[in-house]
Amino acid sequence: MSQFLPEFIQAYIPNTIQLLYLVATGFFIIGIKKLNSPATARKGNQFASFGMLLGVVVTLFDREIISFEFIIAGILIGSLIGIFAAKKVKMTAMPEMVALFNGSGGGASALVAWGEFSRFDPMFFDLQSLITIGLSILIGSITFTGSLVAFGKLSGYVPGGRVALPGQNIINLVLTFAAFGLIGWFAVDPAYQLVFWSLFGLALLIGILTVLPIGGADMPVVISLLNSYSGIAASMAGFVVGNNLLIISGALVGAAGLILTNIMCKAMNRTLPNVLFGAFGGDAGGVVATGDTDKTIQQTFADDVAIQCAYTRKVVVAPGYGLAVAQAQHVLKEVANLLEERGVTVKYGIHPVAGRMPGHMNVLLAEADVPYDQLRDMDEINPEFTSTDVVLIIGANDVVNPAAKTTPGSPIYGMPILNVDEAKRTIVFKRSMNPGYAGIDNDLFYSEKNQMFFGDAKKSLQELAAAIKELD
Ligand code: TAP
Repeated sequence: MSQFLPEFIQAYIPNTIQLLYLVATGFFIIGIKKLNSPATARKGNQFASFGMLLGVVVTLFDREIISFEFIIAGILIGSLIGIFAAKKVKMTAMPEMVALFNGSGGGASALVAWGEFSRFDPMFFDLQSLITIGLSILIGSITFTGSLVAFGKLSGYVPGGRVALPGQNIINLVLTFAAFGLIGWFAVDPAYQLVFWSLFGLALLIGILTVLPIGGADMPVVISLLNSYSGIAASMAGFVVGNNLLIISGALVGAAGLILTNIMCKAMNRTLPNVLFGAFGGDAGGVVATGDTDKTIQQTFADDVAIQCAYTRKVVVAPGYGLAVAQAQHVLKEVANLLEERGVTVKYGIHPVAGRMPGHMNVLLAEADVPYDQLRDMDEINPEFTSTDVVLIIGANDVVNPAAKTTPGSPIYGMPILNVDEAKRTIVFKRSMNPGYAGIDNDLFYSEKNQMFFGDAKKSLQELAAAIKELD
């Protein structure tokens, strides 16, 4: 685009572009910082989006644009897909969408490296550039196919449990070493096309073989890790095409993804190698609910729950995945309002991995305008349960399962949980006695202090709201 400008302006363009890249980077960093709290998250998104827009516009001046038609067509198609996805994709399907986004990012980085490599004579590149191209192809392709498999597992197209050959981890390790060997070969003999294409094919295969054996319940962690890979791949692509903004923004994504992966592993008391090399959840073997019929449960209904909650001092809500499935956040807020009008203190205890994606419950409750000052992280709310009269457990299961504290050998043993069993009364809103994502029984349901309110969470909460209104 710059060629259309007067010559004296053209002289300033390279420096101005680098300066504007720096400004865009500033917007990214402030945006990420603002994502820290639900109160500022929306602004954070806007900041980062503006940084991205600035980056795209500036790049149009910087690069030697070959065809604006293709760029405009790409922007149109991409925007239409983005708008469609933002409007249509359900909150519960967000992890699948993120998986596809990551895959696209990784695939794009690999394609950029391939495009740049094929633009010139192979002998034109120095050793460093060739290694960067090789790494970009490797990481980008692994991210692409790995994310597609993760998407397939989450949406049920691919079996959720461990799908692997005997010794799969060793096979994957050998293939990864072979891929690095190919990068070395490619760097010293770039004109030998077979090496380049073998690397490309092997990297795509490694992505599939690495994610296939990982259990369905670990997919969110894997997606977060793949998100980090997509950032690293983008950063590599930035080195390949010599674009500072891509290098920095890729590094930001890479680091943020790694930090998030670490947080999620800690919240589930798992190590990353355990996630990557040991199947867990989904239909993974060895994780079963016994559906123990000897134990008894107490069932309750809306009128009774209304009385228990309305004539008490403090109610804590423990939300989980079922709240998202039922889309019951708005009616939950209505119930909380009714209780508060009666002088009851209402707080929400948020487990870091409640739901199916990081921050799932925060996003849901923010949608219903639940005040942020009522939200308590697990560590903050846990000491409060002993002084809580009633805990309403809405569609949560694993994150309140005492087996995490009491049953060595349980797949969730050691995972920190919401200590709802310390409250005077717990009431579980769910549809059946079916287990949660880890696929295990929950002894809380059989506790003397617990009652089960069966039904879809939205319908049950609507009944509860009506019952509270009936009370004088
Ligand atoms: P889960 O343990 O999955 O339990 C959700 C419960 O919601 C189910 O028992 C289900 O019982 C109930 N439910 C589903 N639809 C419902 C509806 N329409 N109305 C009422 N109840 C409904 O959820 P959780 O306690 O939030 O735990 C999250 C799990 O995901 C943990 O195991 C965690 O490790 C795993 N995980 C989470 C993440 C992130 S980042 N959040 C990442 C990796 C793994 P019914 O079918 O009987 O209704």
